[in-house]
This record gives sequence, C-alpha cells and structure tokens, in this order.
Amino acid sequence: MAGQARPRPAGWAALVLGALLALAPAPAAAEIRIGGPFELVDQYGAARTNADFRGALMLVYFGFTHCPDACPTALSTIVESLGAVAQADAAPALRVVPVFISVDPERDTPEVLRDYAAQFDPGLVAMTGTPDALAEAGRAYGVFAAKVPVGGAIGYTIDHTRFIYLMGADGKYVAHFEGDVGVDVLADAITQAGSRAAGHRQSAER
Ligand code: NI
Repeated sequence: MAGQARPRPAGWAALVLGALLALAPAPAAAEIRIGGPFELVDQYGAARTNADFRGALMLVYFGFTHCPDACPTALSTIVESLGAVAQADAAPALRVVPVFISVDPERDTPEVLRDYAAQFDPGLVAMTGTPDALAEAGRAYGVFAAKVPVGGAIGYTIDHTRFIYLMGADGKYVAHFEGDVGVDVLADAITQAGSRAAGHRQSAER
C-alpha cells in the first residue's frame, strides 16, 4: 500500500501533509512550480534549509522509514545512479546531494533517520521536522501523503507520492521521475543537468 499515489476517498482518517497537485505535462510556456523553501532538521539534529543546497544539484525524495518497498527502491535507485554518475567518464562538475524528506514526523526522528540513511549512503541527507514544516515542504513539491490505519504492531502506514525530483543548482525544478525509474535513466538526467549547469557557469565567467 505504501508508496502509492492514490487519493483516498473522504472519510478515511487521513493526515494530509500536502495537496495532491497533478504533475501532468505542463503547457510549454508555463513555469513549473515545484520546489521551494523548507526549514527542517537533518539526521544529526542540525537545522537545514533549502538555501544550504544552492550550488549543488539535489535529488529529492519524500517518504518514510517504515515504508516496506517503494521508499527503499527509490533510495537505492538514487544511490546507484549517483554511483554510476561518479564512475562515468564525464562526471558532472557539480556536487549532487541526495535528499530524503520524511512524511512521517511522528516516527521519523533524527535518530531514526540516522540509522535509516546509513543503510543507503553516508552522503544521504535525511530530514524531518514539525508536522507544519513537513507539510509546507510537501506542498512546495506537490507531495501527497495520507496516514492509513493498518492492523498489527505497525499501527499505520502512509500512502504517498513517490517521485524523485531533480533540482538545479539554483534551487529550481529540472525534472521528476517515478520512484521505480531505471538507474540509467536517472544517471543520464543527472549528468545532463550537471553539464548544463557547468556550461552556464563557464559562459558566465567569460
Ligand atoms: Ni514509501
């Protein structure tokens, strides 16, 4: 159930962290408004804002540590694609930071995120925050997340969108991918975005 981007009918005990924004193909001239300010806390308890990531590409994924399949798949894909990019001949000139943002403030404390992130990559920045702060971050990215009660000790799961967002060094949206995107597809997109950004920087210096 977790990881599915399906709106729930009214009446479910749903904790809606953000509006479900349709990520339909936009008209060519329209500006795509995905991404924006956030004020969160990372797995080491340090305050982090979107401004900290300027100058680096970001791969942003919203999920939760109790997610059985979709989130581990997406995070593994992110880490593998960064490995592929690093191995390639034409590695991007820019730093690429993988970012995980929790949609489960109740359970995902910094301590929980620290153990979780370490399972994937020491460079993964895993963030949580107050329900309000996470709702605001989720809204900025058009993320939908709804708490769904389940039996057993786990108590609840969370249905959520599972897009991987590629954000530029200027903090602006570049592209998004399904959480089960292929490693090669994501690696290519990162490489292209990295070389485009490096090209812009060089021409600005001339
Ligand atoms: Ni998930």
